[in-house]
Amino acid sequence: MMEMQKLQTVDYDKSLEYWAEIPATLDGVLGGFGFISDVDISGSQQFLESLFLLEKGPRKEIALDCGAGIGRISKNLLVPFFNRVDVIEPDKKFLSEILNYVGADSYKIGALYQNSLQDFNPERKYDIIWNQWVLGYLKDDDLVKYLIKCRNALADNGIIIVKENVTSSGKVEADEVDSSITRPLKQFIQIFKSANLKRIKQCKQTNLPNGIYPVYMFALVPINENTI
Ligand SMILES: C[S@@+](CC[C@H](N)C(=O)[O-])C[C@H]1O[C@@H](n2cnc3c(N)ncnc32)[C@H](O)[C@@H]1O
Repeated sequence: MMEMQKLQTVDYDKSLEYWAEIPATLDGVLGGFGFISDVDISGSQQFLESLFLLEKGPRKEIALDCGAGIGRISKNLLVPFFNRVDVIEPDKKFLSEILNYVGADSYKIGALYQNSLQDFNPERKYDIIWNQWVLGYLKDDDLVKYLIKCRNALADNGIIIVKENVTSSGKVEADEVDSSITRPLKQFIQIFKSANLKRIKQCKQTNLPNGIYPVYMFALVPINENTI
């Protein structure tokens, strides 16, 4: 019974209330782990570059940064690669900081959607849809529905990226503070399958400090090309 209660901790209002109190800084969006950003971005660059080299790799026209925070990933990863980057972020204070944080290249930032992923309906087709350190705020059924919407919002050869913490215990672990969950690898794989997505590449982020969750990157494409 206790275990069941613990797993019900994703609460959308509580998560938003938590983030509303967090300053719009690098350390803020990374929960005091701002110092891992460079290593994280470097791993993501390598992962993304390997996808551009695929025979049917994505174009570099337009990317979507989902749960963008202050635009850390937009600035350091997506803007250098893509002509345009749209962002979605529910917290007004973070969203307001993005253009300032991206700085000189902010002309590449397109739409700024103030929205939660579970309520989001992408309006255009994207070459890359980047989801990082945000999917733990979604309930499983909403996550599947959201990934299906992302699947339908991919341009030709487009790819969905998921970069998330995974548990080592093989179980879902709940964080009562920000009302999120961390999923085990097998649960992500099940969720991707339910959304009719297949993994074309999977990689564990290296060089992270000890004592934090392992971080995995997944590159996902529609199982049935005819459905996009
Ligand atoms: C840990 S931060 C990560 C930010 C960014 N992805 C990064 O890696 O720098 C989590 C972000 O998810 C946002 N968030 C929380 N719940 C969300 C939801 N339901 N839909 C979209 N974003 C959400 C928060 O406002 C916050 O900006």
